[in-house]
Amino acid sequence: MKIKFLILAVSLVSLCISPVVAQEQTPRLDTKDRFVPEIGRHGMVATREKIATQVGVNILKQGGNAVDAAVAVGFALAVTYPQAGNIGGGGFMMIHLAKENKSIAIDYREMAPAAADRDMYLNEDGSVDNARSKFTRKATGVPGTVAGMVHALENYGTMSLAQVIKPAYDLANDGFPIYNYLEGSLNARKERMKKNAAAFKVFYKADGTSYKYGETFIQKDLAKSLKQISDGGRDAFYKGEIAQKIVADMKENDGLITMKDMANYEVIERPAIIGSYKGYEIVTMPPPSSGGVHLVQIMNMLENDDLKAKGHNSAASLHLYIEAMRQAYADRSKYLGDPDFSNVPVAELTSKRYAKITRDIISMDHARRSTDVAPALNLLAESPDTTHFSVMDKDGNAVSNTYTLNFSYGNGVMAPGTGIMMNNEMDDFSAKPGTPNGYGLIGGEANSVQPRKRPLSSMTPTIVLKDGKPFFVTGSPGGSTIITVVLQSVLNVIEYDMNVFGAIAAPRIHHQWMPDAVMIEEGVSQDTKDILTKMGHVIAPRKLTIGSLSAIMLKDGIYYGASDPRSMDSAAIGY
Ligand code: GLY
Repeated sequence: MKIKFLILAVSLVSLCISPVVAQEQTPRLDTKDRFVPEIGRHGMVATREKIATQVGVNILKQGGNAVDAAVAVGFALAVTYPQAGNIGGGGFMMIHLAKENKSIAIDYREMAPAAADRDMYLNEDGSVDNARSKFTRKATGVPGTVAGMVHALENYGTMSLAQVIKPAYDLANDGFPIYNYLEGSLNARKERMKKNAAAFKVFYKADGTSYKYGETFIQKDLAKSLKQISDGGRDAFYKGEIAQKIVADMKENDGLITMKDMANYEVIERPAIIGSYKGYEIVTMPPPSSGGVHLVQIMNMLENDDLKAKGHNSAASLHLYIEAMRQAYADRSKYLGDPDFSNVPVAELTSKRYAKITRDIISMDHARRSTDVAPALNLLAESPDTTHFSVMDKDGNAVSNTYTLNFSYGNGVMAPGTGIMMNNEMDDFSAKPGTPNGYGLIGGEANSVQPRKRPLSSMTPTIVLKDGKPFFVTGSPGGSTIITVVLQSVLNVIEYDMNVFGAIAAPRIHHQWMPDAVMIEEGVSQDTKDILTKMGHVIAPRKLTIGSLSAIMLKDGIYYGASDPRSMDSAAIGY
């Protein structure tokens, strides 16, 4: 009887306490939702690759916070997703700490070596040698990833470097099964990789054939490098044996990076760009990424239009998107670069006033030609193979991280004995101001090559806050398209009330001023495209998907995650 009473009492107590909590914590989809996201009760990791996603989730389950998990994912992707996951590249990490209500922007972008110079990619006749800035040792900037990961962990994580590198080390040392996407990706890059013996030896079998789905892929040299970093920290990479091997390979092959360049690499914490849009805060990456500036600029230009009434992906909405994108990328071509080398007018470009002036000159009836749209501040007085991951933990801390080798597998070069693929990020500089780079992007003097400068990026790791708390964590690869891809994910959530999966699955468009054509994915109706064409928009003939988002939404205590259905083997996993 006593026991029965006790059970009854406990049940009553839990009934008294739990209804509110239970009700609040029940995952809920809207009746209109056609896409069901991954659901987590305590946290979520969304990345471009399943094994690395699980690494992050395991770290969260072991009690690590979002930064611990993000750093573990960063190292794991270097093993399991070698075309863009990296330790020989660089990137940007946005962190939001829930308790402190603080946003941190970590810049670990590559730096030009000290011997770099403005005209290093020009032929004698002044033309650009495109291959030199993409596929030679001279294409490589001093990598920032190891310094960035160590900085994030030491300052905002709770675990040791050894703890968060261990899963990556095990995956490299013991191997993992080749998955569908990796099999195809390695096949696709075989010819390029043949040009570098060290890389070819790692990524293909001794007889030169490719690894097949399900076979175990082992990377012993990479495991050794990871162990050295785990034991020796950042210095193991920038001053130790790894640096010596990278620099020896540079010396032998006409590269520029020296031991001094490696030792001098600097991570920089910069003030995040914080925009506002209809009551939400948009916390995003400042220069040397152009991403945050133009994300906020475009959102400011759209804020006073009733996009919801115009309708998702209607001709009227898409027309406005395109015209706002056109202006933003025109401005990018002139004003954006490394803020430590030139004065980037961030405040002006992200001001509501500039947005109003540039919005007011857009007609709702017809498209402009890009040749008629110029960088306009005076009015105030690849294959895209980057990768993104998003992490949220049980305390509401959020990490949005985008990092890259630039092209897939970077410049295709591995310093012998390291297992580390090197970036070709120097191509993100304007080799010749006014001439397009690998993404067709035109840059200005602000993005010319200079010693120790960081090349301009489009990476846009972003955290949207609602009532001061992380609500939506998003980001994408996609070279020049990153900004517009992230933009549409945010608009889909805020304007069109989509859940995270719906928001990232919806068809997207992209316009970047030059070339003057709008890319439109499958899924936008022919009628809509006909109306846009009648308005004067030029629709790009190429049929490609645009970007690959990995995003998380935290709503009423439930974590909703999704990784882009456009990308084979991507995964969001909650717990
Ligand atoms: N490498 C592409 C970017 O940084 O935008």
